[in-house]
Amino acid sequence: MNFDVDLIVRSFPLLLMGAGVTVQITALSVGFGLLIGMFVGIARLAKLTPLRLAAAVYVDFIRGTPLLVQIFIIYFALPMILGTRIDPFVAAITACSINSGAYVAEIFRGGIQSIDKGQMEAGRSLGMSWGQTMRYVILPQAFKRIIPPLGNEFIAMLKDSSLVSVIGFEELTRRGQLIIARTYGSFEIWMAVAFIYLIMTLTISRLVNYLERRYKIDDKH
Ligand code: ARG
Repeated sequence: MNFDVDLIVRSFPLLLMGAGVTVQITALSVGFGLLIGMFVGIARLAKLTPLRLAAAVYVDFIRGTPLLVQIFIIYFALPMILGTRIDPFVAAITACSINSGAYVAEIFRGGIQSIDKGQMEAGRSLGMSWGQTMRYVILPQAFKRIIPPLGNEFIAMLKDSSLVSVIGFEELTRRGQLIIARTYGSFEIWMAVAFIYLIMTLTISRLVNYLERRYKIDDKH
């Protein structure tokens, strides 16, 4: 077998376009996931039982079923109820956001629970409500601690977003498949695809390291 370097060079622009789409799905999904996860994470700690229960069911259901199946449910099963087709991009973002939300919820819950409970008591004794103390005292401290696990979630989602290639959505993995279908260059293209994923995940972990160091310094003042 000979290694066709030229094939990689020729395919690179197309693969990079796919990588751009992968970054987009990841950023949007983890972005929405952060919003969902913050509320669900707090809901899991709420005093109101129905709220706590609903949050627990959501997290259990999402973590207990494969992302691949969730993508199929949203792209193929949901349209049968709605009566209309769903755009692959919308389906991909929806599935990945709902999925990420469950993981982020657990990260938030862990972060919040790691803050000494004296902080809540201190806030309450100063006359702040539970919500105010959560917002102004607990969450700002929890945020710093959850930066590393949130970085992990980003990296995990970036890789897991390759699953949306199954609904024909043209992100990096799907681009690779399509190029191979035309050129039969499995070896070259999958190596190039892996390399591009690796560069992206390494970049994220560097970024997270930087943020982590920055907030550590802040903590001393
Ligand atoms: N691989 C696991 C699954 O198929 C987790 C996917 C979700 N990953 C994430 N970072 N939210 O269910």
